[in-house]
Amino acid sequence: MLSGRLALVTGGGSGIGRAVCQVMAREGARVVAADLNEASAKETAALLASAEHVGVPLDVTSEESVAAVVRGVRDRYGAPADCVVNSAGINDDSFLVNMIAAQFMKVLDVNLKGTFLVTKLSTNAMIDAKIDGSVVNIASIVGKVSSIGTCNYSASKAGVEAFTRTAAKELGRKGIRCNAILPGFIDTPMVAAMPEKVMKLLVPLIVLGRPGRPEEVAELAAFLASDRASYMTGASVEVTGGYGI
Ligand SMILES: NC(=O)c1ccc[n+]([C@@H]2O[C@H](COP(=O)([O-])OP(=O)(O)OC[C@H]3O[C@@H](n4cnc5c(N)ncnc54)[C@H](O)[C@@H]3O)[C@@H](O)[C@H]2O)c1
Repeated sequence: MLSGRLALVTGGGSGIGRAVCQVMAREGARVVAADLNEASAKETAALLASAEHVGVPLDVTSEESVAAVVRGVRDRYGAPADCVVNSAGINDDSFLVNMIAAQFMKVLDVNLKGTFLVTKLSTNAMIDAKIDGSVVNIASIVGKVSSIGTCNYSASKAGVEAFTRTAAKELGRKGIRCNAILPGFIDTPMVAAMPEKVMKLLVPLIVLGRPGRPEEVAELAAFLASDRASYMTGASVEVTGGYGI
């Protein structure tokens, strides 16, 4: 499905990002796993078991860091990535009454500004190289369905959805599609860190009765990145097991 394609996956060292790297490599793409945690990005590349895949350090909140990775990909492979998946993300939950501004902004910085920087610089590189491409942004169902304690996270993810639609509108005539995925509760280190009593309340609200697996999100990311989704842009697709319907 992705043979001949070159993928850049942020947050590629863990959870959903790592699963995206694995599914995209299985589907024939060469994969650059990029993560703040360089060791975990390199671990992902090692799991893919071919020298054509690499793991690189990236801080999505830094324009210099994003520019260096975009340049590095072009130098290494002779072309920019034509599949970009923005999966780097953090949460830092607290009730609104207790949330401090720095905590609010930190989450927006990684989840929203990071998505903006990676999308802007990588699609500029596609346009310069005159190639078509696809961007997949990992938003969240929590950007749409309310969730107590996540006013920073939910605002950032609603922002990613709105950003994706505008990017799709601006970039469609340049041959670049942009779509968002809204996962529900997926079994990754981010969700493992949630208090057990919260998960006990949440799981009964999931129609399929269980959290999702990272690869269940990754399969959709690979599809959206591929030509099989050639008429999809500006869409937000839920992968929630029915949570929030
Ligand atoms: N797990 C879920 O239930 C769930 C649900 C909805 C949305 N999401 C979203 O999916 C994405 C992946 O989450 P996950 O559950 O796999 O979490 P995770 O914690 O397993 O992975 C997130 C990765 O992002 C990296 N990262 C953090 N800050 C970064 C930065 N500044 N620059 C580059 N990399 C950075 C981390 O090092 C980590 O490897 C996130 O955007 C998250 O908000 C997750």
